[in-house]
Amino acid sequence: MGGAATPGLAAAVSAAGGLGMVSLPMVPAEDVAVIVAALAKGATGPVGINFLIPFLDLAAVEAAARHCRVVEFFYGDPQAGLVERVHRSGALADWQVGSADEAKAAVQAGCDFVVAQGTEAGGHIRGTTGLLALLDEILAAVEVPVLAAGGIGSARAMAAALAAGADGVRVGTRFVATAESGAHPAYIQALVQASAADTVITTAFSGMWPDAPHRVLRSAVTAMEAFSGETTGEMDLGPARMPIPKGAVPSPTRDTTGAIPAMALYAGESVGNVARVQSAADVVRELAEGAERLLRARV
Ligand SMILES: Cc1cc2nc3c(=O)[nH]c(=O)nc-3n(C[C@H](O)[C@H](O)[C@H](O)COP(=O)(O)O)c2cc1C
Repeated sequence: MGGAATPGLAAAVSAAGGLGMVSLPMVPAEDVAVIVAALAKGATGPVGINFLIPFLDLAAVEAAARHCRVVEFFYGDPQAGLVERVHRSGALADWQVGSADEAKAAVQAGCDFVVAQGTEAGGHIRGTTGLLALLDEILAAVEVPVLAAGGIGSARAMAAALAAGADGVRVGTRFVATAESGAHPAYIQALVQASAADTVITTAFSGMWPDAPHRVLRSAVTAMEAFSGETTGEMDLGPARMPIPKGAVPSPTRDTTGAIPAMALYAGESVGNVARVQSAADVVRELAEGAERLLRARV
């Protein structure tokens, strides 16, 4: 989840019983090693790290795999060599996928589990199928555990995914609006006010990462198109302070300055469930305990 997924957020999710994950794009491998080692040492539960294939740094993967329980990859063809590196360091490997063929390829590459990402998801979207249909196809195609992702922001949605056969769920947007998130307050406020219909799949924020559709708040596309400058602001990216070109990929973090509404405000259809800023533990509890209650009431 880019800059929103701080080590503090991952630690809070894992302390609450989830698998907290970080992603550290553009961060040098030496720094990844230090950040992830400190995270794993301080966390009271398992933590993971996500790598985007178009920005992959092999040294960072190896550094992270030594400390994380899970190393996940997204947005590229599954590669046995990568999975092997992760396993050699003692971590589990998984791939977030957008189709049954990609799930099969991930399993063939040796992945321990897969995340089925439906088009309801916030952020970059790998496939073209909605979650329930995709989950059905992937559950029929592979034997490894399958997590469901995309539009899951309520206990009802989580219960539905589990009832449909998912072994767990992946939640993104709800955690952007938590006290521990690194997202800019104005981005979080925009999430609080939005509903599912206010999101759109677009390629508007393709600077640095072309040909990769993503779901954002429609208001961000409108504001970006109306913005007349070449750079919308500045942010810390890895060790450096960088200008953000208009239409670029990064979403605004707490340290970002400039035209926040015109930046990539990623949001899934689950955004309608973001009613206020909560602690990550409250979100985990609300979803997990609520889903359990719903599922038990039906047996
Ligand atoms: C702000 C944001 C950033 C994201 N960044 C990543 C990422 O770096 N890597 C990744 O695999 N998925 C990323 N995703 C997608 C999530 O892994 C997941 O598919 C999605 O959040 C699920 O849908 P939801 O947002 O409705 O919960 C991101 C999602 C959001 C909302």
